[in-house]
Amino acid sequence: MHALIVVAHPESGSLSHGIAAAVGQGIAGSGGCHDFEIADLAAEGFDPRFTDADLAVHRKQAAPPADVAFEQARIDRADTLVLVYPVYWWSMPALMKGWIDRVFANGWAFDFGLQTGLTKKLRHLRVHLVAVAGADMRTYARHGYFGAMKTQIEHGIFDYCGATVVRSEILFESETQSPQAHLDAARAIGRKVSASMPCEQAKAA
Ligand SMILES: Cc1cc2nc3c(=O)[nH]c(=O)nc-3n(C[C@H](O)[C@H](O)[C@H](O)COP(=O)(O)O)c2cc1C
Repeated sequence: MHALIVVAHPESGSLSHGIAAAVGQGIAGSGGCHDFEIADLAAEGFDPRFTDADLAVHRKQAAPPADVAFEQARIDRADTLVLVYPVYWWSMPALMKGWIDRVFANGWAFDFGLQTGLTKKLRHLRVHLVAVAGADMRTYARHGYFGAMKTQIEHGIFDYCGATVVRSEILFESETQSPQAHLDAARAIGRKVSASMPCEQAKAA
């Protein structure tokens, strides 16, 4: 299993980065065929702005720009995608949303044509979502935020492309709870990511 862990946070020393690294430790510590790479969108300078070049791709009038083709190739090398992000305004940060807007493009993540309808092209991809939230679970439950995020991200984005969301977790109270508890939880998530794809299954995929 090769996991691509994508993190969107401007500070390399942030809890979100610590959580991404801890998920990776959990994956690698499981031994066997499991390995990972981290895509640090902020450090790599990924540009999330959707431009006319991206619109031309969407309209199937042009090939993807080099930075988008690079991201698509590294997702192609993975069978497992782990998104780690702080919750900003009850959703993902603009950097990660722009990464999805640009990279999960028509013709690569899905194929849509007025005559042909929708073809889902990421059926092989298994997705794990790890959101880091300042608020507590009660707040999410009271307002239905977790359900709203699940609908929008799991169904609206990944199911549209045919990818399977295996796990979707929120690590709550990130600004008030001990970071160690969150890092331990993240390592446990990494182990579960590995356990969700035994080596025999990974080899056959
Ligand atoms: C612009 C912004 C918007 C935020 N919006 C939310 C929110 O809607 N819900 C929430 O639970 N936390 C929200 N937070 C809190 C962050 O999720 C929290 O600061 C983060 O998880 C802490 O992790 P970090 O140390 O990796 O930044 C917001 C923080 C910022 C900076």
